[in-house]
Amino acid sequence: MSAAVTVRAAAKINLHLGVGAPREDGFHPLDTVYQAVGLYDDVTADRAHGWSVETRLANYLQGAFLPEAGANIVDAVGRRMAPDGDPKAQVEIRKSIPIAGGMAGGSADAAAAMVALDRLWGLHTSDEEMLAIAAELGSDVPFALLGGSAHGGGRGELVTPLVDNGDYAWVVVPDETGLSTPAVYRHFDKLCPDAPAVPPPPHGVLEALSYGDPGRLAVALHNDLEEAAVDLRPSLGALLERGESEGALRGMVSGSGPTCVFLCESTDAAQHVAAALESVRRVALVAHGPVAGAHIAEVM
Ligand code: C5P
Repeated sequence: MSAAVTVRAAAKINLHLGVGAPREDGFHPLDTVYQAVGLYDDVTADRAHGWSVETRLANYLQGAFLPEAGANIVDAVGRRMAPDGDPKAQVEIRKSIPIAGGMAGGSADAAAAMVALDRLWGLHTSDEEMLAIAAELGSDVPFALLGGSAHGGGRGELVTPLVDNGDYAWVVVPDETGLSTPAVYRHFDKLCPDAPAVPPPPHGVLEALSYGDPGRLAVALHNDLEEAAVDLRPSLGALLERGESEGALRGMVSGSGPTCVFLCESTDAAQHVAAALESVRRVALVAHGPVAGAHIAEVM
């Protein structure tokens, strides 16, 4: 058994989110390009006689809805990773990623907890097994393990790393209240009853990433869930326009929303856009991508 271990995992943005008609199992086929961006949750796991999960929130997340005791995705990680199904650890999650925000914060927590518990319990789980367990836990969890930029297929869980030598400056604007991912997918089904069985592929984004040029990437960004998210939360439309009028190359809803992300020409430009958007919203954060997936940050 190891000493207490802290694992850091990043938020994700979908640079391309192509969504198809629902499959028989209810999930939607995706053709997506993920990018991990520098906004993090830290998960610390320490030895204990029982099992507990405590969550601490960044200031700007205070008041957000949290899962009830036992219903956190990290509880599912504990049950799944414990060799005898009876997890024993004291887990603390320190959250900075918007909750129910479309940035896969819960998936980041799951990936971080997997890595932390694997180390704490000395399991030496293989990379293949880690990715397989992650896929059981949620569609975005395998990417949270991987980080960087990656192509995602299936329901999002089949991930292939991409070469991405770019460095992109984003402004991330969380909303005061989250949006339910299933509700946004249901609304997509209503708005797009004729969605294709095969989701639209990300040719434009893949080409833009090969140039590493934010201007090209801005033109190629694509999110099939954006219309549904904006229809459910109309204030997002004005926010996207405002960010672009303040100098962002492009604004877009992140995943199922309601967080909006703005791709900017440079860090300076991102800081300007963030300052301008903080006058209309409480919080606007500057984050760079791509960054690493779930990784050990501290062992005590
Ligand atoms: O896989 P995950 O638990 O993150 O998915 C949460 C919910 O989002 C699913 O129950 C489903 O309603 C919706 N979803 C979907 N198609 C996907 C991924 C998620 O319909 N590809």
